[in-house]
Amino acid sequence: MTSNDLFPTERLADADVRVLLLENIHTDGAEFLRAKGYQVEALDGALGEDDLIEAIKGVHLLGIRSTTYITEKVLDAAPDLLAIGAFCIGTNQIDLEATTARGVAVFNAPYSNTRSVVELAIAEIISLARRLNEKSTDMHNGVWNKSAAGSHEVRGRTLGIIGYGNIGSQLSVVAEALGLKVVFYDIDDKLALGNARRCSTIEELLETSDVVSLHVDGRPGNAGLFGDEQMALMKPRSLLLNLSRGIAVDTKALREHIESGHIAGAAVDVFPIEPKRQGDPFESDLQGLKNVILTPHVGGSTEEAQQDIGRFVASKLRSYASFGGTSLSVNMPEINLPADAAKHRLAHVHRNAPGVLATINGLLGEHGVNIEAQSLATRGEIGYVLTDVSAEVGSEVLTELADLPETVRLRQLS
Ligand SMILES: NC(=O)c1ccc[n+]([C@@H]2O[C@H](COP(=O)([O-])OP(=O)(O)OC[C@H]3O[C@@H](n4cnc5c(N)ncnc54)[C@H](O)[C@@H]3O)[C@@H](O)[C@H]2O)c1
Repeated sequence: MTSNDLFPTERLADADVRVLLLENIHTDGAEFLRAKGYQVEALDGALGEDDLIEAIKGVHLLGIRSTTYITEKVLDAAPDLLAIGAFCIGTNQIDLEATTARGVAVFNAPYSNTRSVVELAIAEIISLARRLNEKSTDMHNGVWNKSAAGSHEVRGRTLGIIGYGNIGSQLSVVAEALGLKVVFYDIDDKLALGNARRCSTIEELLETSDVVSLHVDGRPGNAGLFGDEQMALMKPRSLLLNLSRGIAVDTKALREHIESGHIAGAAVDVFPIEPKRQGDPFESDLQGLKNVILTPHVGGSTEEAQQDIGRFVASKLRSYASFGGTSLSVNMPEINLPADAAKHRLAHVHRNAPGVLATINGLLGEHGVNIEAQSLATRGEIGYVLTDVSAEVGSEVLTELADLPETVRLRQLS
């Protein structure tokens, strides 16, 4: 079997693009893709492997969230599949190696819920400083405790942000607008926004911060990042927030520091072990403590974020299917030639080996095909080249390109 048999090279008209969206993806996603002329089927639930294998036949674009698993077996049953949209942040549910090896692009929505997390962090900083949780619980229990003791404004206090990425840096900006001073620590060089000041060590940050907020990523080294030693270095009566990764904070140590009164309050949204399904029991060392806000990993869960995810990922799928754009792809080399420039465009995914571009161009030249624009990018084992040519390419050329030993996938886009 040649690569050409595996990957038909005929052009796919928008009206022939079949999309399957699972797991109750925000309707804006389906509407966007329908408006582009694609055939869209949207289902509420996730599908198990066998059902997915049935449903995915003939599908070009698949949309999932976190509970549909994309295995090698599923991919083998989906020769027409061009791209998968993870309408969420994480992509652990997708066998990325297998998708890449088959030239199937994967997209997600890494920034859509950044603002939601930031707003929750701000709300929690103020709530903890004013002991709102405690006061509200008292009121529900019929206790009228009108007192200023232990309640503070946040204006003029210092917020220490550990992890100054998308969320940490946006929190920095919003917190300054409220009158907080911001210091931060990141293992990478990061541009300090506004008046924020960079600390060279976590210790330096802990010495100066009235509120410490963790926004680190989930790299293995961050397990146990914040334990008894770091908590002991926090200022007396300071506050701790973790809306990043459950593994980063030692919850047992946090309980001890809250019970001793050294830490005045905490807000925790992520836990080392989280229930898998809605309604499953939840247990934590932090339950039953005063001035501790516990939330079920909802930092990024707002209707606005869901809507943004729906639109964002749908637009990535559209851009890839119709124009070959891979900007912000999770697994493909990133290329973005202007969509409207493409009168006749070829998208070629290949194994990253020396000389592939020269071979492609030599072959096009031999057949008198004139290249108007071209962009190549590589990422690990995979190379991707978009080539805009002046006239439609004949089937002979396409067959020769598809049959190159390095070709993983070839599409004629327009
Ligand atoms: N609670 C929620 O619902 C929710 C929603 C979205 C994201 N998150 C989590 O929030 C965290 C931050 O997200 P993001 O989009 O800002 O990620 P990001 O990758 O943009 O930023 C993470 C930053 O942390 C830094 N970092 C990593 N380890 C560090 C360490 N040990 N010390 C100091 N800095 C360190 C990195 O250099 C990077 O700048 C992630 O863990 C993400 O999974 C949670």
